[in-house]
Amino acid sequence: MTTSSPLNVLGLPGLLHGCDYNPDQWQHAPEIIEEDFQLFPHAGIGVISLNIFGWAKLEPQEGHYDFAWLDDIFARAEKQGMRIFLTTPSAAAPNWLTAKHPEILRVDENGQRRLQGSRMNFSPNSASYRAHVSRINRALSERYGQHPALALWHISNEYAGTCYSDESEAAFRLWLKKKYITLDALNLAYWAAFWSRTYTDWEQIRAPRGHGEHTTVHGLCLDWRRFVSDAWQDFIAAEVAAVREGGSSVPTATNLHPGGMPYDPWRLTAPTDIISWDAYPAYHDRDEPWDTGWNVVVHQSFVQDLCRSLRPGQPWILMETTPSSANWMDVPKLKRPGVHVLTVMQSIAHGADAALYFQWRAGRGGEEKFHGAVMELCGGPESRVFADVIAATHALEKCAPVAGSLASAEMAVGFDWDNWWTQANIISHGGHGRSHYPWEQLDLYRTCWENAMPCDVLDPSAPCIDLARYRILALPQQYLLRNGLVEKLTAWVEAGGVLLTGVLSGWVDENDLAFESGMDPAWRRLVGLRREELDHLYPDETNHFIFPKDNALGMNESYAAIDKLELNHLDGAELLASYGSEFYAGMPAFTVNAVGNGFVYYQAARSRQDFRNDLLKALWKKHGLVPLLPLGTLPPGITVQRRKHDDGREFWFVLNFRRIPQSIDLGKIQAVDLISGQEINGSINLTAYGVAVLDFGGIISQPILA
Ligand code: GLA
Repeated sequence: MTTSSPLNVLGLPGLLHGCDYNPDQWQHAPEIIEEDFQLFPHAGIGVISLNIFGWAKLEPQEGHYDFAWLDDIFARAEKQGMRIFLTTPSAAAPNWLTAKHPEILRVDENGQRRLQGSRMNFSPNSASYRAHVSRINRALSERYGQHPALALWHISNEYAGTCYSDESEAAFRLWLKKKYITLDALNLAYWAAFWSRTYTDWEQIRAPRGHGEHTTVHGLCLDWRRFVSDAWQDFIAAEVAAVREGGSSVPTATNLHPGGMPYDPWRLTAPTDIISWDAYPAYHDRDEPWDTGWNVVVHQSFVQDLCRSLRPGQPWILMETTPSSANWMDVPKLKRPGVHVLTVMQSIAHGADAALYFQWRAGRGGEEKFHGAVMELCGGPESRVFADVIAATHALEKCAPVAGSLASAEMAVGFDWDNWWTQANIISHGGHGRSHYPWEQLDLYRTCWENAMPCDVLDPSAPCIDLARYRILALPQQYLLRNGLVEKLTAWVEAGGVLLTGVLSGWVDENDLAFESGMDPAWRRLVGLRREELDHLYPDETNHFIFPKDNALGMNESYAAIDKLELNHLDGAELLASYGSEFYAGMPAFTVNAVGNGFVYYQAARSRQDFRNDLLKALWKKHGLVPLLPLGTLPPGITVQRRKHDDGREFWFVLNFRRIPQSIDLGKIQAVDLISGQEINGSINLTAYGVAVLDFGGIISQPILA
């Protein structure tokens, strides 16, 4: 990387390439550490994430610190011009600590306290654990907080887990007291008179769990999930506070868990400065990975676009991915040639400024000894994996001008955890196990992904989300309306925003209580509809959206309406399509409500992908959103994503997720492919799993939307 490269999210030049490095496991073999530092520059590793599970080495006995091994690594890194992400070691408590304070260990749903073992096994609500973590964090900060090699505080590692200890339940009650002040308010919010669940003493409130309260009191179940995320947020905030007390002002990040993110990342990341997450996609698991199952390309892109929305205006960090396979996968297939660079560049395409691996060197023992690593047990600098890492280094170095640039989407899809929890777990309108949240979101996003339409994924209520930058916002199944959301949406629509929402939206308030008159009056005004009933169809049944011939949106005359169908009445909105059959044939199936300078489209029933595809394309055309390439240009399995600097310099990432070479006709586009250095003039040929990064150098010869 050159010093003239723009600065990344950490204020360093270019894109960063690095890995988890665990020298605490190799203190008995100094020659290995020597070799590591010889090989880092060969692999192009410029950043090491250190001390992730190093507590036992760092503090072998309470209050007795051994910093020598860390001092040595800091000194070596500094000498080689490498940067360090120093991890606070809370993810794995040492044995002496849990032996002395078993109360820090987590308690499961059945009340059984865990024994020491594995990692992430502590309670975020344990005052005793917090005190010990704060102590070690302060000590680390005092010692390394000003070190020139330190680039980031990596706060712990993939926080996860729910604790049901007495201490946790007491903290939950405190959280509830702060929220509701009185038991009367709580009982009303929980509709506790139903089945005589009224609380007469705060102490009667228990955490919901399988053998207790788990389906009846919806507000309680939802609050518990919020509380668990808030407890983690609080724990993270305490970790960060201790680092600051130690005198360091270096930025912080915590790496979000790749496994579906069971905790609300909007809450978890609030105390930290930079967003980071861990990605372990299994693209190499299938021939056509962009189109199969959950853990696939589109989903990865979806989560990565969520990462960039969590902190608008800031690139993020890919804290972990595997350089080869992950041994915990059902089928840990090796990455096929090209897949590694492709996955690294996918994260850069969606806004990352750094890509790191788990891990540099495989250990000889433990659960992860056969997990992929840059230096695998039978690998080494001559190995295929090492060569893949070098290839990623080259790509990242060539793409240094991308550092610090941002995505600039005018389209967004809403996705928030209150709605996910409520609809996936707590809903009671029937159709259990058939909640399509967040599949609806993902399927709408897929249309954008396949058609070169940049799209953010966001929580519309989040205070950091300024809707003004978006022209179209899709909020499918916005079932739960948080306080203030309808006002925020209304102001944005009145100013010209285009909202797409529909079936199962606006049903309950922030506490998961149905609205008194069935609908929030402000929501009813916004959508221009009055809801009456909800019909459910069997999987093999269909109704239809019937559009008039030659309709203004250019939609076909008929599309399948499936699964869940609302029976609504026009209340200001205009009818665009009606149901084709059943006793409600002719009732509104798709409508638009003009509100100020904007529009609210309402899709009253679930649809298939053909409807979503045609609808989004129609809305883009009608409301002036231009995809990066004309519709129909992209062959299946290719996406184009954009990043942009403030000065207008744009980069388009063209990513081929198929194992066959593919070409694209780019019309009049002229640019340079940063990776190959070739001029791109009119068309581009991508190899199997190939990537090109088009640099327009400030001038874009963009084709006009057909
Ligand atoms: C997670 C953890 C790492 C390691 C990898 C293995 O992402 O953060 O410590 O266990 O999984 O895939």
